[in-house]
Amino acid sequence: MSVTRRDFVRTSVLGAVATGIGAHGAASGPPNGNGAQGHASANDMYKRPIIITAHNGFNYIDDAYAFLKNGGDTLDAALRVVKGPEDDPKDTSVGLGGLPNEEGVVELDSCCMHGPTRRAGSVGGVRNIKNVSLVAKAVMEQTGHVMLVGEGAERFAVAMGFPRENLLTDHSRKVWLLWKEYHSTTDWWGPALADPHWQPPQEQPEGKPQSELWQERVRRLEKHAANLGIVPELRRDAVYKVLFPPTGTIHCSALNEKGEISGCTTTSGLAYKLPGRVGDSPIIGAGCYTDQDVGSAGATGSGEENIKVAGAHTIIENMRHGMSPKEAGMDALQRIVRNYNHDMKKLQFVDMIYYILRRDGAYAGVSLWTGYEGGHPHQIVVHDGTRRAEDATALFQGFSRDFPPDPKVPAEVQKQFQ
Ligand code: GLY
Repeated sequence: MSVTRRDFVRTSVLGAVATGIGAHGAASGPPNGNGAQGHASANDMYKRPIIITAHNGFNYIDDAYAFLKNGGDTLDAALRVVKGPEDDPKDTSVGLGGLPNEEGVVELDSCCMHGPTRRAGSVGGVRNIKNVSLVAKAVMEQTGHVMLVGEGAERFAVAMGFPRENLLTDHSRKVWLLWKEYHSTTDWWGPALADPHWQPPQEQPEGKPQSELWQERVRRLEKHAANLGIVPELRRDAVYKVLFPPTGTIHCSALNEKGEISGCTTTSGLAYKLPGRVGDSPIIGAGCYTDQDVGSAGATGSGEENIKVAGAHTIIENMRHGMSPKEAGMDALQRIVRNYNHDMKKLQFVDMIYYILRRDGAYAGVSLWTGYEGGHPHQIVVHDGTRRAEDATALFQGFSRDFPPDPKVPAEVQKQFQ
């Protein structure tokens, strides 16, 4: 992705303002709501075929679009996009190289829905299998079930011919060790008392400015990263992933010229999560939902919050009842806000991005916040003949913070990572 945050004007989280609704030019009204055919008005306004995905699908969408345009199936097109990051060891949020759970084990989640045949498949908490999106499709096609989890899902994948492999790359293992070290003043990880290099934890010097304390913390982490053998060009990235644990994921929805539509979502979930934690990505109706009569939607972001509002399903039902893609997404975000009684002190630790594609080709990307602290503005990637990245419309202007909360990282320290 070429967009950086360098020129982006940071605004205060607590000074957040809700934005208005309306961009990406999608009119209200269901395209072919409730299965009825042919509301002529909307159908000629938007381009088909079209694919929408998350920022990490940018490099894979061209190939998928060509496949779709040549008559390829909509789910297979979406899977072509998400397989890219699943195979990429450098993408630390999906598939191979995904950041592990707190025990250093990579556990993957995925689901898919095929609009034309109205089928779904899903897998959760899968270890040792890289392409879980394809395993979700195999569950859909080869079993009478919708969801398999854990060891059973892994055994099913192996039976289907998926190779078992170690998903923890050397880099993601070292980033995980660095994360352990970062927290080691409160646990048994890191140098022991008997270690000749052990030093007592530093007392917080009275009156020392926060930014200086943070600079010291960053320097200490960089030194640990060097000790762990992380090469100099990857040290900043490793420190960044320890200070701002990523919650990346990829969703993709694809619509062909005939109006057939499908979607899928895949992830390694929250970095350093509890073993066995399953997020929203494999939950049909939360991480992804597709209804051939209405459209397809998916999510990346705070999985627990999205599960509680059944985000993707809520969006589809909102569109079924006449909302535009953007209105439908904003309403789902408002439900998250409502769950916290509009308490901005809590909502600053939540973030969510919805990718929404209506059956007529109208689409929207909406997010709770402008971006993650220390990261880029949220974007969606679109291909309808032209590949492009577009800023999501944020409900609140500002940057969300990581949870569990560290003391706030001062702006001058954050700048080092941009
Ligand atoms: N949205 C991805 C997760 O929470 O696991």
